Amino acid sequence: MASWALIALAALAAAQASDKRGLCFTPNPEFPSDNHIWDAPGSRLSWYYNYGPSPSPAYVDRPQDEFEFIPMMWGVGPNPDDTNFLDTVRGLIDSGTEIRHVLGFNEPNGQFDTGGSEIAPAVAARAWVANFEPLGRMGVKLGLPACTGAPDGLVWLKDFLGNCSEIVSTGSETRNCTWDFLPVHWYDNFEGLASHIGERLATWPGSEIWVTEYAYAHRDLAETQAFFHQTLDWFDREDFIGKYTYFGAFRSATANVGVNAAFLNNDGELTDIGAEYVGEEPRGILPDTGKASGHTVSVVVMGMSLVASVILVSV
Ligand SMILES: *[C@@H]1O[C@H](CO)[C@@H](O)[C@H](O)[C@H]1NC(C)=O
Ligand SMILES: *[C@@H]1O[C@H](CO)[C@@H](O)[C@H](O)[C@H]1NC(C)=O
Repeated sequence: MASWALIALAALAAAQASDKRGLCFTPNPEFPSDNHIWDAPGSRLSWYYNYGPSPSPAYVDRPQDEFEFIPMMWGVGPNPDDTNFLDTVRGLIDSGTEIRHVLGFNEPNGQFDTGGSEIAPAVAARAWVANFEPLGRMGVKLGLPACTGAPDGLVWLKDFLGNCSEIVSTGSETRNCTWDFLPVHWYDNFEGLASHIGERLATWPGSEIWVTEYAYAHRDLAETQAFFHQTLDWFDREDFIGKYTYFGAFRSATANVGVNAAFLNNDGELTDIGAEYVGEEPRGILPDTGKASGHTVSVVVMGMSLVASVILVSV
């Protein structure tokens, strides 16, 4: 094959959306134009979630085949048996949005003040049976709750599945709750991530892992970039990784995981890792540049807490 053809093929491959790679959407209301960096023509991102049950206004017109919205039930309100999440997802399906996957609770083993949903396994199990089991019967693929990377995450998940099994079992027959894939979050080094995922695979052999938040938080630029490349290669290569979303689709001044983890500088320009993630040529943009550089605020965590209060108030 002529070399120009190889180059053309390589360019085509680079421009194609990866069915694994997605967006963890934490919009900055001050800069709405940033939203369309992620779904621009040629972007390699094929799906997103926004910690909530409904599509984001920025992407409502995007067909599911191009940019799949994946609803999440972030936490549990005062009545664990309410079916608000189920009803919202059913409403989307009834109005023609093809929902193929849903995500369980966000960091239920983590505290409210760090973005966790702080749910006891027994309470989470009731909410799962009310909302997720019916979706599973409709053919929607179910993602287990995404625990933090802390060691108690595994204990929480086992307790949750045990509690869930107790609810769906009948006197004589032991049954398990249904799930299709296992999301994880990770903010430490690559070796730690590999052993974290290895532990999940050893506990639930053959499971499909989704990495729904990850970055090497608060590191220098070289370490951040090395981790980024190592994880991307690994995730794209391994069949047990179903999907992944880096936690960094925001400007560095709003990063609560360290400025170098951000995909955008403070003028909204793609950093090198941001450019690679969406499939553009890196241009050497340093994260801590642009007009608001130098002061770091945690609006990302505040954003998560806002999501939490909206969900808890609306039930
Ligand atoms: C239910 O969860 C609690 C923790 O909240 C745990 O102690 C208990 O063992 C769990 N039950 C089962 C059957 O796993
Ligand atoms: C239920 O899950 C447990 C723990 O993963 C497993 O050992 C058991 O075989 C499962 N039971 C059924 C009926 O699938």
